[in-house]
Amino acid sequence: MNSSDQIQSETSDSILTLRINRPDKKNALNLAMYQNLADHLRPADRDDAVRVILISGGEECFTSGNDLADFLSAPPTGPESPVMQFLSAISETRKPLVAAVNGLAVGIGVTMLLHCDLVYVGNSATFQMPFVNLGLCPEAGSTLLLPRIMGHQRAAELLLLGEAFNAEKAQSVGIVTEICPDGDVLTVARNRALQLAAQPAAAVRLAKELLKRDYAPQLRETIAEEGKQFSTRLKSPEAAEALQAFMQRRKPDFSRFN
Ligand code: COA
Repeated sequence: MNSSDQIQSETSDSILTLRINRPDKKNALNLAMYQNLADHLRPADRDDAVRVILISGGEECFTSGNDLADFLSAPPTGPESPVMQFLSAISETRKPLVAAVNGLAVGIGVTMLLHCDLVYVGNSATFQMPFVNLGLCPEAGSTLLLPRIMGHQRAAELLLLGEAFNAEKAQSVGIVTEICPDGDVLTVARNRALQLAAQPAAAVRLAKELLKRDYAPQLRETIAEEGKQFSTRLKSPEAAEALQAFMQRRKPDFSRFN
């Protein structure tokens, strides 16, 4: 494992493993980490030595989502921002993506799973998409993908209320391939990745492309539109209140905003 930074990467048996590793901040993704992920995903898609990409986090936390301090100090500015580069890389990767999720998956920790082909999660994994709770809007194409996967009403519940939900619910709404015992997630995901790596690579890529064919252009457009709205929302008084409340470890009060 190359552990020089908070994204550890390793290629073996034709599988590129990317491990999010910032345990002191619950694996929150900062700008350098998004950039690092994008910088691994893009070349891997062109590298014949890589046939499958496996994304994992720690044993207790997949990721707590975007670094909230970065939202204040270094908000995303446009398509060149590290988060947008990561989203365009993960959503356009032609090779199969496998995710191994233990513990918390928050915000982009959930929405990135919508771009993965196989998603294995531990039985005590917890999911949450608190974009609206933070005065922001959903991202990563989730406003297109979630209703497509589970229908409007279930997507609206998860996005508008932004409550945490467990692995059973995640599987029942269709965003999880399989629930595993917590200690087995990485092994199960890696075995499935090995199985995928042994499949005929061109046929796998073609099948993935065809699976996404009818919504790929709309997905690109949705990610861009959500990104624009998200940047605007970051400057809103609602988001300022939510982010300050997180830093001050108190409940936000949205009652004075309409
Ligand atoms: N961005 C920046 N820092 C984060 C973070 C995030 N998304 N999530 C956790 N951290 C930091 C905390 O500030 C804390 O740092 P400190 O020790 O320097 O004070 C550390 O990680 C541990 O977090 P803590 O809140 O004490 O752990 P917890 O187990 O009580 O709660 C979470 C974990 C993930 C539920 C909680 O930290 C949380 O709600 N984080 C924000 C999640 C979020 O809103 N993400 C963005 C979605 S768009």
